[in-house]
Parts: sequence; structure tokens; C-alpha cells
Amino acid sequence: MILPVLAFGHPALRKVAVDIDKDYPGLEQFIADMFETMYSSNGVGLAAPQVNRSIRLFVIDATPYAEDFPGETDLKRVFINARIVEEKGEEWAFNEGCLSIPQIREDVIRKSELRIQYYDEHFVYHDEEIKGVFARVIQHEYDHLDGILFVDHINPLRKMMLKRKLTEISKGLVKTDYKMIFPLARKKAAL
Ligand code: NI
Repeated sequence: MILPVLAFGHPALRKVAVDIDKDYPGLEQFIADMFETMYSSNGVGLAAPQVNRSIRLFVIDATPYAEDFPGETDLKRVFINARIVEEKGEEWAFNEGCLSIPQIREDVIRKSELRIQYYDEHFVYHDEEIKGVFARVIQHEYDHLDGILFVDHINPLRKMMLKRKLTEISKGLVKTDYKMIFPLARKKAAL
């Protein structure tokens, strides 16, 4: 089932999400829905808070960009209860976008390598070092679990310039080809 994606300004995007255990009700279906929603909106990653579930789960499928990930074999993954325990390497700029913030892309500076501990969809534990663009996608999705959005990382002046656009997104004054929930959308008058 395709789930609606919350748009910028929705308070659920700002919550700190909580860990789950393997008995979390409907986990398998939820993961399937997450992938279906992500594919239908042409995203490479989606975090549970974006579909109004405040749990520490995100999915990634970076297969369309496989050539950017030399050496990475498994580009479709589920991350549950993830913890980034270390970020290192050089800082670099990458042009990020977000399904919750349609039609805005900005260069964001982050470190190039990370170490992450997480459970996969079978609740098998992993402890991995990841770098490059794949690390970047993880950093972006991981931020969602802590209520952080990529526009929080850009400089204040640039963010001020985006303010009007961000407000328009909250109001639903933006065109997307996927279903969204806009926190400031004007309700149609009830007659
Ligand atoms: Ni995002």
C-alpha cells in the first residue's frame, strides 16, 4: 500500500523516533509499504517518520545509482534501530533533496564516512563502515529519525531565502506526482 508522505512543517517530522523490537505489529507489511511508497515517488530512501510513524526505521534502495557505489553489492536495505556511532573522513558537499520537501535541492556538507550499527528486516545485527554516496543517503535518512531535515544543515541566509518556498510546501502549493499530507493546507469549506 502506498502511504502518503508528510510535507515540511508537519510536526511529526520533528519528533525523535523510538526503537522497536522484532514483535512490532505488522512490521513486514510496513516495510513492504515503505518500499512501495518510496518506489512510487522515485526516492532512493524513506524514513518511517515521513509516513507518520515515529519509529527508528528507514529503507534505502540506491540501485538506480549503482555506478556511484563501486564495491557496494547490496544497495537495497532496511535499517532498524540504527545508531551512527562514528562519522569521519573529509567533509564534502552533495546536492540533497527530500520527498517531504519537494522541488528543493541544496548542497549539504557532511563527513564522507560513517560507522553504523543496526538491525535488518530479519532483526539480524550489523556493524558496518560505509562511505561515499551510500553513506550520504544513510546520513540523510538517519537525520529523519531525530527530527532533522536537510534544510537544517544549510546556512541561515540560504535558509531564509527558502522560507517562502518552504511555507508554500507546507500549504500544499507545490506539485508532486505522489500523495502527500500538507500540514497547512486550507480545508475545503464544509457546506
Ligand atoms: Ni528526506
